[in-house]
Formats: sequence, C-alpha cells, structure tokens
Amino acid sequence: MNQPSEFPAHAWMDGEILPWNDCRLHVRSQGAFWGANVFEGVRGYWQPASGRMHFFRLDEHLQRLRDSAKCLRMAVPFSDEQLRRGLGALAEANLFTTHVHAVIGLAYGLGPRCESLGHIDAVHAHITALEMPRSPHGRSGIAAGTSSWRRIGDDAMPPRVKTGANYHNSRLAHQEALAAGYQTALILNHRGTLAESPGACVAAVIGGRLVSPPPTSGALPGITLRAVAQIAAELGVAFEQREIDRSELYLASEVMLCGTLVEILPITSIDRIPVGDGEPGPVVRRLQQRFDQMVGVSHD
Ligand SMILES: Cc1ncc(COP(=O)(O)O)c(C=O)c1O
Repeated sequence: MNQPSEFPAHAWMDGEILPWNDCRLHVRSQGAFWGANVFEGVRGYWQPASGRMHFFRLDEHLQRLRDSAKCLRMAVPFSDEQLRRGLGALAEANLFTTHVHAVIGLAYGLGPRCESLGHIDAVHAHITALEMPRSPHGRSGIAAGTSSWRRIGDDAMPPRVKTGANYHNSRLAHQEALAAGYQTALILNHRGTLAESPGACVAAVIGGRLVSPPPTSGALPGITLRAVAQIAAELGVAFEQREIDRSELYLASEVMLCGTLVEILPITSIDRIPVGDGEPGPVVRRLQQRFDQMVGVSHD
C-alpha cells in the first residue's frame, strides 16, 4: 500500500516508533471490531521560538485515559511516563514544526479465539499525530442544530468514559446536523437538558454567568472546559456547572464549544435562531485571547 502523503511518516505502537502504515490492530481485535478502546485527543502547540512542541495539559489527558480504562477494567500496559516519552519521540521522528493533534489510544487485542466480551488483557497502546491548524471558524463561529438523538447516559454507555464505542452516538448526531445544513449538533440527554456536542463540551453566557452542563448531564469532563473555567475566574466571570434547558440556549447571549480539537469555538445560531446578535460575543473573544496566551500561540 502506498503511504498517502497527508499522513506523517511515523506512528508509535506498543513502545516502538514504526511506519504509519504498520500501526495496526487486527480487524477481529476487540478494539477494532467492537470499539473496545479508550483514547485521548491532545493538541500539540508548536513553539517556534523554543523549537518545542507544547502538549496542552498532557497530565490531565493521561489521567482521564486511565480513568476511562479503569471503568472498562482495562489493564494499561504502559506508565504515564512511557506514554509521555512515546509522544515526544513521535513528534521528533515526524519532524513536526506545526501544531498537531495527537491521539493516545489503548485497545483490546484479539483475546482467546476472538472471545468477545469477557476479555480484559492483551491491551495495545498506540500514538498517532496529524498536523492540525487552529480552527478556521474560531473567529466567525458556526451554526448548530439540536439533535433528535439523545445523548447516551451513565446507566448504559457512560459518556465519562472516552471510548470509541461512545462515538457512534456522536456520529449519528453529527451526520444528522450536517445533512440538515448545520456545522455541529447540540445533543440533549434523556431529561431533555443539554449534554454536549458530538466532540466538545458546550458553555453558554446566561445572565452574565458562564454556565456549562456537569458530567452528570451526559458530558465528558472536559479538559478545555476546565481551562476555560480557570480563565473565566481570572477575568472575573462567574462560572457554574448546572443543567441547561434547550430554550435557555435560545436566550443565551453567547454559546460556545470547548474542546481539544475545536478549542473555543463560538456558536452563532441554534436551530437557525441567532445566538445574541448572531456574532461571536465579548466573553468568547476574551476567553479565546487568554486561551491563546495559555497555549503559547496567537490565532493564525
Ligand atoms: C464527546 C466529547 N465531549 C467533550 C470533549 C471535550 O473534551 P476536552 O476538552 O478534554 O478535549 C471531547 C473532546 O475530546 C469529546 O470528544
């Protein structure tokens, strides 16, 4: 197979740097076949002045990876330090000099005779990274539609566990949103209150306070959201985690996504109703500016 040029030269798997195309799980492995895996997406911000890659909040990502694995009774075959070194070695091997999005994953292997559900060892670890510019919509914002799909819940598929299997729910919502002409979805939980978007947490400015649903509403405990809460405190903006009704979002002065991939991304309309005046608002702008300082880059 020829290596497509949009992929970097190297990946990391089970302790070794190897060619991108050799980073493989068998199709019948639990990880590939059943989505029995856990992972973290981490942004690496390239710092041209120092010639170094700054992986944002890597310790928090590694802790959440371990939390996800624990819930799935998955034995993690590498220490945090080994994964940290693997990520650093991968960035060096690929000679990255731009921002990247890295995925650190743990996946169940084949198991005895592909036995499907009881298998908890033979775990493979992999790290891959792709060059990833900052979000092109960070300045302009995006349109969101409320999904007809409900967010999975802790009583069936805990959204707190960052496993590939959970993203079938995200995929349904995202594809529905794209087909309806939106750029993302807002997914409600079974109580009908806001959970999250397919791949990011949601925060809104309501009555001058920044509010976001707690994990018990069906949101991943977001690392970007935690950073945003920290910035809000510095800026003197009150931050609160509580249940949020759909109609509250229609009346919010600002709504935004917070996540590793999207960073802080304004939502300028929901169900074709403008959020505020339909333009990114002052709070999101200030959060973005301070976030850029925190990650050590300016918005390109
Ligand atoms: C479903 C989901 N919710 C929320 C988030 C945001 O989390 P974080 O800021 O830690 O990337 C992500 C992104 O990883 C996600 O996939």
